[in-house]
Amino acid sequence: MKKLIPSYVRVPALFFAIFGLVEYFVDSGDKPAFLEYPIIMLFLVLVLFILIAVEGIVGSIENVLFQSLDEAGKARYLANTSKVPEFKKAKALYHKLKGGETPIEEEHEIILDHNYDGIKELDNNLPPWWLYSWYASMVFAVIYLFNFHVTGSSDTQYEELDNEYAQAKIEIEAYKKTAKNLVDVNSVVLLTDAADLQIGKKVFDANCVACHMADGGGGIGPNLTDKYWILGGDIKSVFHTISEGGRSGKGMISWKKEGLKPLEMAQVASYVLSLQGTTPAKGKDAEGDLWQPEGTEDTTTPAEQENTEALEIGKTVSSNN
Ligand code: HEC
Repeated sequence: MKKLIPSYVRVPALFFAIFGLVEYFVDSGDKPAFLEYPIIMLFLVLVLFILIAVEGIVGSIENVLFQSLDEAGKARYLANTSKVPEFKKAKALYHKLKGGETPIEEEHEIILDHNYDGIKELDNNLPPWWLYSWYASMVFAVIYLFNFHVTGSSDTQYEELDNEYAQAKIEIEAYKKTAKNLVDVNSVVLLTDAADLQIGKKVFDANCVACHMADGGGGIGPNLTDKYWILGGDIKSVFHTISEGGRSGKGMISWKKEGLKPLEMAQVASYVLSLQGTTPAKGKDAEGDLWQPEGTEDTTTPAEQENTEALEIGKTVSSNN
């Protein structure tokens, strides 16, 4: 076979062709792909090793084939290959790295003295490229071990994962802040930030004092400072009342229709609830039911009601008999 391109040109040429293809196809922004994704660097190093290894194997096969040629054939082969330009130093270095094979005439010196059914083993030197990458992997392993498991100065995969979760949580919180305006009656929560309550107070002063008084004591509208509520006293109910309005004809209109934004309604609802327990100058008498916060059950009234109902049913049954 005529070798047009020597292997010390072929290997780098192939390598850089693959390198170029990777850079072309991997979208990595402004940075080169192998810097953006370190795994690509590993891939390229592997490619390089494989290319060199393939050259080594092909070279040995060629050598074996060459030895099987007769003298005339050898001469013809040499005449062909010597036409290829020679870069002696580069070639020598490359051969040194690839590991020079022992010439066939000297093989008797390195043959091991065991023999399995006629199969013998040569004690060739390990190819330096292989040997040095093995040493390098040992050094790498020691550095890795110290770095990740002894001193712990770099993050392990689990720590990286935890960090990413923590970062994601921060981002979700940040998103929630910008997305506050998306609240509705299902997602609304009691706001306790002073800033939110202050805006709530402003909305209240601008829209609500005519009927509920500045201190929430009530006028046309009910007293908002006591524990009695006509339409429910948790944040969701209060938000709902403000957003949709009270019972028709009572005077409490839908503030959603008046142009209050969801966030403003959440803020003014939180402000209204912050008035709980304060004493207004002229508090209106309580209206509605005593509001039981979730979890604490009003045991007396409903139970008594049920009992009287049961009694009444009993009466009707007995009177029917
Ligand atoms: C025009 C008078 C008027 C204005 C203005 C008004 N309300 Fe009311 N509000 C009422 C009346 C009347 C009721 C009772 C509704 C019912 O009985 O169904 C009420 C009920 C409420 C309730 C429910 C009270 C309960 O016991 O369940 C809340 C909360 C409330 N208003 C908040 C506000 C807020 C906040 C504003 C300003 C954005 C506002 N109101 C503006 C008249 C008003």
